[in-house]
Amino acid sequence: MDVLLVDDSAAMQLALRRHFSAYPDLSVRAMADARKALTEARIRAFDLMLVDYHMPGMDGICFIRKVREIPHYAQVPIVMITSDVTDEIKQAALEAGATDFLAKRTRGVELTVRLRNFIRLASAVRRLEDRATWLAGEVERALRHTREREAEIIFRLALAVEYRDNDTGGHTLRVARYSQIMAAEMGLDPEFCRQLYLAAPLHDVGKVAVPDGILLKKGRLDENEFAVIRDHTVIGKRILGDSSGALIRLAAEIAEAHHEKWDGSGYPNGWAGEAIPLSARIVAVADVFDALTSERPYKEAMRFEEARERIRELAGSHFDPACVEAFLRRWDDIRAVTAAERGSDLYAMAHGTEPWERVPELLRELAEEPPPKAASRS
Ligand SMILES: [Fe+2]
Repeated sequence: MDVLLVDDSAAMQLALRRHFSAYPDLSVRAMADARKALTEARIRAFDLMLVDYHMPGMDGICFIRKVREIPHYAQVPIVMITSDVTDEIKQAALEAGATDFLAKRTRGVELTVRLRNFIRLASAVRRLEDRATWLAGEVERALRHTREREAEIIFRLALAVEYRDNDTGGHTLRVARYSQIMAAEMGLDPEFCRQLYLAAPLHDVGKVAVPDGILLKKGRLDENEFAVIRDHTVIGKRILGDSSGALIRLAAEIAEAHHEKWDGSGYPNGWAGEAIPLSARIVAVADVFDALTSERPYKEAMRFEEARERIRELAGSHFDPACVEAFLRRWDDIRAVTAAERGSDLYAMAHGTEPWERVPELLRELAEEPPPKAASRS
């Protein structure tokens, strides 16, 4: 335990040091200059302070007030050494943060007992603070663990959905990354960008309820079959809706609205403009761009520059123009995401983006053992 003793009286310093010497684990720093002692207090983390009231340059009350401003000393016991001080001064010392008083004339057994009690108090405060620090670390660790598990479960669920009509698992990652890049470019809150990145993969979760005969059909779909496909938005909202978690609620709004169009001609609700949640407006651009540039059994992959121009043309009709502008401004980064995936290096694409660093093994398995190719409609 470290004790700081601030007193310009050599006799008082000597008397206190003599008593403290009975405690072998105690380290006492005795100083006569309050200003230098304040500097010392900022450098070292003392567990107990004894401070004289009458000192040249700075009185004890002023010293205590300044020490209490240092975060470490919020709870550390500070004892003011007094001689002939009024109750008003004592009151001011208490308000400045003094824990107790010690009269200069205290001697013998009484001084021994008082100092022992101060040491015990300081020791208890330190144990409590150590415990609080440890607990805060544990809470932080548990929270991080929970958030990682939540994100991983979402991603694995998205992969399960995607596995039904896609052969690599790459669509999920790409849509998430495109969305995150656009959101960041639009200057949105970093926490929103992170949540969008994690929630976007569930945009098509409602497809789990679409029968294989329709979802995997290679020929043209009739109007009834399209209606069933369109229902994946409503079903997605139903699967994810009413969650108490913000991340799942965000995923629900994306699942419901990612096929809405800026001009109101989309589905399922025909929402237009800013009535469509911003998250869904962003994911809509990412989802369509990825669908255009992906090879499917019934179509070739569109060239990237051609798909970029297609997205540009659809600004103001299908897409929110602000989202398209963000997409175009970050074209190099969008293209880099695609390039990483094109090199089959899904690990490189996911690497460094928590918490999916654990998922690439699964992605590799999916890439190595693709399911039978089948038609896909977003
Ligand atoms: Fe969809």
